Amino acid sequence: MSPNRFALRRSPALPAAAVLSLAALLVTAAPAAQATGTATGAAVVAAAPDIPLANVKAHLTQLQSIATANGGNRAHGRPGYKASIDYVKAKLDAAGYTTSLQQFTSGGATGYNLIADWPGGDANKVLMAGAHLDSVSSGAGINDNGSGSAAVLETALAVSRAQLAPDKHLRFAWWGAEELGLVGSRYYVNNLPSTERSKLSGYLNFDMIGSPNAGYFVYDDDPVIEKTFKDYYAGLSIPTEIETEGDGRSDHAPFKNVGIPVGGLFSGADYTKTAAQAQKWGGTAGQSFDRCYHSSCDNTSNINDTALDRNSDAIAHAIWTLSAGTGEPPTGEGVFSNAADVAVPDNGAAVTSSIAVTGRTGNAPAALQVGVDIKHTWRGDVVVDLVAPDGTAYRLKNSSSGDSADNVITTYTVDASSETANGTWKLRVQDVASQDTGYIDSWKLTF
Ligand code: TRP
Ligand code: ZN
Ligand code: CA
Repeated sequence: MSPNRFALRRSPALPAAAVLSLAALLVTAAPAAQATGTATGAAVVAAAPDIPLANVKAHLTQLQSIATANGGNRAHGRPGYKASIDYVKAKLDAAGYTTSLQQFTSGGATGYNLIADWPGGDANKVLMAGAHLDSVSSGAGINDNGSGSAAVLETALAVSRAQLAPDKHLRFAWWGAEELGLVGSRYYVNNLPSTERSKLSGYLNFDMIGSPNAGYFVYDDDPVIEKTFKDYYAGLSIPTEIETEGDGRSDHAPFKNVGIPVGGLFSGADYTKTAAQAQKWGGTAGQSFDRCYHSSCDNTSNINDTALDRNSDAIAHAIWTLSAGTGEPPTGEGVFSNAADVAVPDNGAAVTSSIAVTGRTGNAPAALQVGVDIKHTWRGDVVVDLVAPDGTAYRLKNSSSGDSADNVITTYTVDASSETANGTWKLRVQDVASQDTGYIDSWKLTF
């Protein structure tokens, strides 16, 4: 259900006529706003439709039945997996998608990815969304990851119901053998010709979005995707946190590793909900987000309807928003990033990661955003500089021997207005004390 519309209908201060005219206003205002775009470079579009929770749950019921009829699971190489693929594919075929099965072999068994293209849009700008459809062998995998699979499916069906004609081309994917180590998604990315790879403007991943003791986590990767989700939740006054339960633990990792902008949502797995998290989200502190993670009780009872509902609506919002516009920022705001890992040697020489900025005119902004994601087991060891194309260094972070916390994951604001924007920018990282080490995971410049 859409909480916005729910609030409108329930508001006692608004008579029915006012609600109607407000709704009419919203509808007529949308196309005008579309032309202007926003500060993030993403166009403002008409609101995405509400994704009916009942439909998402009906898919989960079907996936549960498939597991029950096939030895209790939907794992790679087992009949329950292929039956799950067949179920999703039939829905998409009936809705007008162009679907294809991609076969691969893992552990001596045949695996399948299902790829569904929505006809139309700019073939050179592809927005992808996906979820892994396989379960572990110990259970039906209804939260992990029936939840993401069903929500992506229902969003794809909503695209069809709306006969959406987005600027970008839309592609949806259901991955096989995620539970064996991201096998299906890695196979897809590895077998995508580089020309096809370069057409991908983003990949959105949804793995576990209905956890019974839910949290609201947003992946900290591409800033535009991240902001799209954060803004959605901010609009509902629901606090979010950055996903920290393990970068690279799901199917976005193979995309991220080849430099494709990624993002996604997550409601928590085996980590424990803190008191502060229970305070803001409800649920039970001191208990994991999903006590049935990878076990036989991950069945249809293992779903928080509210979380599943909100996350499904958030997916639709992101698809509608991010598929509009060209995503090309020639004069306005732009995002440049480098997600290739660079090891930082222990108590050693400085290392750098480069970003080539092109297509800009004039100087860099007075508030250049430098998003840094450095994984490290003792961040006090780490010194970080931004190096402009002409070699000028801007100190972002000094060492501080007592700071034993992990990682440097933050955004710095730098007055770079005296620097030419175009050219090669570098993030320079040095570890200046022995024992703990780390690596540059990714970094980005937002102009
Ligand atoms: N399928 C993932 C796994 O088994 C679930 C998961 C754990 C996850 N942590 C995550 C998914 C963080 C996304 C982000 O590891
Ligand atoms: Zn899993
Ligand atoms: Ca060190």
